[in-house]
This record gives sequence, C-alpha cells and structure tokens, in this order.
Amino acid sequence: MGYKGKFKVWRGDASGGDLKDFEVEINEGEVVLDIIHRLQATQAPDMACRWNCKAGKCGSCSAEINGKPRLMCMTRMSTFEQDETVTVTPLRTFPVIKDLVTDVGFNYAKAREVKSFTPPKDLKPGEYRMQQIDVERSQEFRKCIECYLCQNTCHAVRDHEENKESFAGPRYLMRVAELDMHPLDTADRKKAAQEEHGLGFCNITKCCTEVCPEHIHITDNALIPLKERVVDKKYDPLVWLGNKIRRRTSSDA
Ligand code: SF4
Ligand code: F3S
Ligand code: FES
Repeated sequence: MGYKGKFKVWRGDASGGDLKDFEVEINEGEVVLDIIHRLQATQAPDMACRWNCKAGKCGSCSAEINGKPRLMCMTRMSTFEQDETVTVTPLRTFPVIKDLVTDVGFNYAKAREVKSFTPPKDLKPGEYRMQQIDVERSQEFRKCIECYLCQNTCHAVRDHEENKESFAGPRYLMRVAELDMHPLDTADRKKAAQEEHGLGFCNITKCCTEVCPEHIHITDNALIPLKERVVDKKYDPLVWLGNKIRRRTSSDA
C-alpha cells in the first residue's frame, strides 16, 4: 500500500545549500533511490544524484541517510516508520559538487599512491604460483565496490581535513594489507603503510567496518593484522640484529 512520506534532501553546491522539504509518494518495496528518482521526475528535475546499477554493486549512490552513511539503492523504505521524515544529505567528508553528488577525487589520488603489485623480477607472467590458502586470505578484500562509505566515515579524515594528505583511509590501507599478504609481492608494504599511507592514524575505531555494504572485515582482517605485522617487524630482535650487522658491514666496507 502506498503512502505519502516526508523527505528532506540537501540541495546546493560548493558555495552552500540547505535542506529542502518534500512530500512524496512511497510504494511498497521501494528504496531511497526510488524516491530520489521520483522527486527528479515530479518535483525537482534538476536534483543531482549519482547512481548506476541500483543493485548495490557499482558503489555510486553513497549518501548519508538520517545521518548514516549508506547506499541509497540498498536502503529500503520499509526500515523507516511511515510518519518519519527521511533526510538525505551528501557524503560529508568530500567536497560537494551539486546536491547529493560529491567530488570523490581524494580516493582516486590515494589509490594512485599505492604502488602496484610487484612480483619477483625473475618470474615471468605465467610462472606465478601461490597456495589456495593465500588466494582465500585476500579474497574478501576483492569484494570492495569502491563506494567510499568507509573513507567517508573514518573520523581520521571526516573530522580532520588536515589528515587527508597523510592518511590513505581504510579502503587503501586494506589494499596495502592485501598486497602485504601476497606471497609474490616483493615491495616493502609495512614500511610504506607506516611512512607513506598513514597507518598510525587508524586507532581501530571500526566505524569503517560498520558501514561497509559488502560486510568486509576491514579492521579485523586487514588493518589490525597489518598493524601487527608492522610492529613485529619493528621489534623483532632478529630483524633488529640483522639490520645492525648489515649497517656495521656497510660502514666497514
Ligand atoms: Fe565501500 Fe566497503 Fe569498499 Fe569501503 S571497503 S569502499 S565501504 S565496499
Ligand atoms: Fe578509521 Fe577504520 Fe581505523 S574507521 S580509525 S580506519 S578502524
Ligand atoms: Fe549502484 Fe547503488 S546504484 S550501488
């Protein structure tokens, strides 16, 4: 059975904006993205929003719904009371372009900063071999749809614009962790995680994991193990001794 629902949608651009009120028809089985489309079709033809698949797979329709970062196409209207006002605002961490569309270029820049897979030089393509257990370990991370909800939510950037330069955010630290687990990757990912991607900014609040629509265990399976491996490497007495001997040998030479 359909009903008239109340919506507040943020309208504006980089110079500023405000929440606008709408009364709109809502039908059984609809999701928030359906309602935004109905508003575009009936009341606000110039309302901007990003979407592609309407199936929770392209990662484009991220927004904040009643203050929670979510995919609009995966948020059922049946999760709200019929007399509840549903408020839709753009992702807060990224600059607004127009209405619900933000500039997520920060994430592309961070993706480019992660050095690509670096196999041993003497292995040719076709000669790569790895155990099934190593394939499975990182399989979960490959489910990422790059919706950037985790990047938007992590307080290390959400509340601290100044950290953006030094902190890659959970999605790209997860990529570093994935490469660090890869048995054929030769780059020093632990050093890079600390020195280039700001692993130290993460204080394990797990908000990234809570909002991930793919239910990836970002914190428990990627970030915490990466932190542990970094610490192991730093404080392992054998590694320390090895480094000391190597330093002494090179200064003697
Ligand atoms: Fe989205 Fe999850 Fe990927 Fe983050 S890790 S970008 S929340 S799918
Ligand atoms: Fe941020 Fe996730 Fe760490 S929310 S602080 S990256 S656990
Ligand atoms: Fe593709 Fe929502 S439209 S994830």
